[in-house]
Amino acid sequence: MSFDYSDTPRIVSPPPGPKSREYMEKEKRLFFAAWYTDKDVPFILRRKWGWTLEDVDGNRYIDMVTGWASTPLGAGYEPVMERVIEVLRESGGIECTDYVTDVHLFELAEKLVEISPRQLTRVAPDTTGTEAVEAALRLAREQTGRYFIITFHGSFHGGNYGAAGAGPTSPDVTRGIKEYIHGFIHVPYPTCYRCPLRQTYPQCDLACLDWIEDVILRYETAPEQIAGALYEPVQGENGIYIPPDGWMTRLHELGEKYGWVMIDDEVQTGFGRTGKMFGIEHWPDAAEKVDLMPLAKALTGGGLPIAAVLGTDEAMTASDEIYLGGTFAWQAAACAGAVAGIEAIEQENALDNVAELERIARETLGSLVNKYEIVGDVRIIGLYIALEFVEDKETRAPAPKLTREIHKECIRRGLVLIDEEGIWWLRLLPALNMPADLFRKGCEIIEEAIDEVSRRHGKGVAA
Ligand SMILES: Cc1ncc(COP(=O)(O)O)c(C=O)c1O
Repeated sequence: MSFDYSDTPRIVSPPPGPKSREYMEKEKRLFFAAWYTDKDVPFILRRKWGWTLEDVDGNRYIDMVTGWASTPLGAGYEPVMERVIEVLRESGGIECTDYVTDVHLFELAEKLVEISPRQLTRVAPDTTGTEAVEAALRLAREQTGRYFIITFHGSFHGGNYGAAGAGPTSPDVTRGIKEYIHGFIHVPYPTCYRCPLRQTYPQCDLACLDWIEDVILRYETAPEQIAGALYEPVQGENGIYIPPDGWMTRLHELGEKYGWVMIDDEVQTGFGRTGKMFGIEHWPDAAEKVDLMPLAKALTGGGLPIAAVLGTDEAMTASDEIYLGGTFAWQAAACAGAVAGIEAIEQENALDNVAELERIARETLGSLVNKYEIVGDVRIIGLYIALEFVEDKETRAPAPKLTREIHKECIRRGLVLIDEEGIWWLRLLPALNMPADLFRKGCEIIEEAIDEVSRRHGKGVAA
């Protein structure tokens, strides 16, 4: 499968071009305020194609957003598109499949069980990652008859009451709802570049994890009141924090010791993003102890919205009276697209390409820490990549304004990354099958943008 990207990037009208501007004005009249305020992407999309985005003014950008990791094989990937359209026609469209079970669901359920850790044998259908996380929380509580869930500062698990309460990465996620959310115990995640305990790995001996026993279990909550722990195997929205050696193993040992249900949120890391089919596979001993695994995003294969929770027999059969899913969960066409996507990841050796692009990222982006004063840290695992920007290396003061300027410079040159208001890291989520030359071009643009902004502000640049 290949797309013609020979004229990418192509900027014919500096963004926002006149047509984008017109739509953006309209956007301000038609949508709710938080939708259009402080937009990071200054254009209106006309279409996605392969590894590129094209705006309404004819500019074409390298796409390192991929629908927030939801088009893992590039946009318009034919084997997925074909199956989705075929089955949409064949099945007749929407059905409430938890009421009238459709035949197309079985192939996906079997495929998911086949590729996931051995103990995960059953599936709960859902439509979004948020729903899948909330379903997992309920299943954990049903299984144990306990109430509290341990979650980690800086995690993102979704936007509604339950999932948002389990995070969040920033106060706006729980604004106006936090006061109604109960049952989560937040503890530190190993965000080692910015350790909240002001320690350094490995001398810290994972003090952040000891917090659970030393503080929570000692002063706050008895272990037998805790149903489980919910975690991202690598924190995504918080800037790609990769747990150091030992952390994941010890977390699962704690879970085993106290009978906690371990919920591994693979909504963003699933299906190859970190270089393994699932992020938790980087720690095989922990992978064996996962009880529930919410999935979404790349599960779609870039086709139609779909999500799932995979779980053990024990977790999935503890109650037959729990309502999960919803009208749109597991549409036949979405299931067919998901199967085609998973097969493509397996058959097209997408993970080999991830390894090759990871190597290029380490070579081109990893080295920027030594060259630019404002590049504080670069974190890479597979194609889960973040560059963190600081005012200077000495203080590590966060630099959200510089970050935004750098992203603007990238967009001006025809590259779109993930940036958000107020944060000081840029993320890359390229398609798993992006060609190496296009990926390298994107990395070069990032360096050009950093160079320009560094010089503009008189920040240090090594010769
Ligand atoms: C780790 C994780 N969990 C859950 C979610 C929520 O998924 P959705 O946006 O499909 O509701 C996200 C979304 O970014 C995520 O990154």
